[in-house]
Amino acid sequence: MNRPLPPAGTRSPDIAVRPLQENELSAADHVMRLAFGTFLGLPEPTAFMGDANYVRTRWRTHPAAAFGATADGEFVGSNFATDWGSVGVLGPLTLHPDWWDRGVGQRLMEPILDCFDRWGTRHAGLFTFAHSPKHISLYQKFGFWARFLTLILSKPIPSEPVEPAGGGFRWTRFSEAPGYERESLLLGCRQLTDTLYAGLDVGSEVRAVADQGLGETVFLWDDGRLVGLAVCHGGPGTEAGSGVGYVKFGAVRPRPTAGPDFGRLLDACEAWAAERGLSRLVAGVNTARHEAYRRMLERGFRTDLQGVAMHRPNEPGYNQPGVYLIDDWR
Ligand SMILES: CC(C)(COP(=O)(O)OP(=O)(O)OC[C@H]1O[C@@H](n2cnc3c(N)ncnc32)[C@H](O)[C@@H]1OP(=O)(O)O)[C@@H](O)C(=O)NCCC(=O)NCCS
Repeated sequence: MNRPLPPAGTRSPDIAVRPLQENELSAADHVMRLAFGTFLGLPEPTAFMGDANYVRTRWRTHPAAAFGATADGEFVGSNFATDWGSVGVLGPLTLHPDWWDRGVGQRLMEPILDCFDRWGTRHAGLFTFAHSPKHISLYQKFGFWARFLTLILSKPIPSEPVEPAGGGFRWTRFSEAPGYERESLLLGCRQLTDTLYAGLDVGSEVRAVADQGLGETVFLWDDGRLVGLAVCHGGPGTEAGSGVGYVKFGAVRPRPTAGPDFGRLLDACEAWAAERGLSRLVAGVNTARHEAYRRMLERGFRTDLQGVAMHRPNEPGYNQPGVYLIDDWR
C-alpha cells in the first residue's frame, strides 16, 4: 500500500464490495493469512494455516457467495457465506491490516446478510475470537450474539484404528458410490440432518469434497439404515492441511444409541484417516452439545483452539444438549 490511508476510526468512501473474482483468489488467500497471522501475533504472519486452504475451496463451492473488497482497485479483504439449508454460516471475514478500523469489515458483512435473506436462512452463525471485544462488538451490530464456546480438538490417529464394523454396523464412502446412488445418499444425508435441525442440509459440503477431491464423506449404517455421516477433509490444499484429517461436519441420528453411534462414527473417521496415512484428526464441537463434547474428551481429543459461536437470532439452533454433531463454523 503506497498511498496515504484514511485515518483509523474514519469511514473509507472509495471502497467497492462485490463478488470475488477468480483472478483475485491469490490476493484473497494472501490477505486472509496476513490478517489472521497479524491478529494472532505470529512471527511470520503469512505462514498462518500452513498449506491448508479455505479461500479457494469455498470460492469453488459457491462463487456467488464469496465477496471481495477493493480500495481504489487494490484488493483489501474478503468474506464468505455458506448455505446449509435453513442454516447459514459466515466467514472467514478478513481484511488487510493496513485497512483495519475504517469500517471496511462492516461493509463486507452486508452482502453476506443479503445471501442469507435470499436463501431464506433461518439460523445464521459464525465462529470468532472470544477474547476480542472488537470482534464480538462488530458481529453484534449485525444481530449475532455470543453463546457457548466452540472448541477445536484433535488427537493422534491410532496406528491400528478400531473398525466400526460388526453387529449390524458398517461404514462406507461417498467416493465408492456409483453415480446413480449419489442423489439418494444426498437425500439420506438431508433427511438425517433434518432430524437434528429442521431444514439443515450439508449436501453442498458432500458435493464439494467429492468434486474438488478434498477428502471423503463417511457414512455409518446400522442394518442398512443410515445413522451417521461425516464430511472429512484431508491433506494439503484442503481445510485440513498436510498429515491432517479434519471433520468439517459430522452427525448421528437422534436415537437412544446416539452416544455409542457417535463413537462409531469417529471410529470410521479415524479408520479413513489411517488408511489415507494421516497422523492427526481435528474436529470441532460447540460446548452446548455437551454429551458430544464429553464423548470426544473420553476418546482422547484435546483442545487446540477455542472461540465462541455467535448466533443470529440469539437461539440455540442445533447447539443443544443431546445433539451429537461435529462442526465449528470456522
Ligand atoms: C475482524 C476484521 C475483519 C474487522 O474489520 P475492520 O474493518 O477492522 O472492522 P470495522 O472497522 O468495520 O468495525 C470494527 C467495529 O468494532 C468496534 N470496536 C473496536 N474495538 C472495540 C472494542 N474494544 N469494544 C467495542 N467495539 C469495538 C469499532 O469501533 C468498529 O465499530 P464502529 O465503526 O461502529 O466504530 C479485521 O480486523 C481483521 O481482518 N482481523 C483479522 C482477521 C480476523 O480476526 N477475522 C475475523 C475472524 S472471525
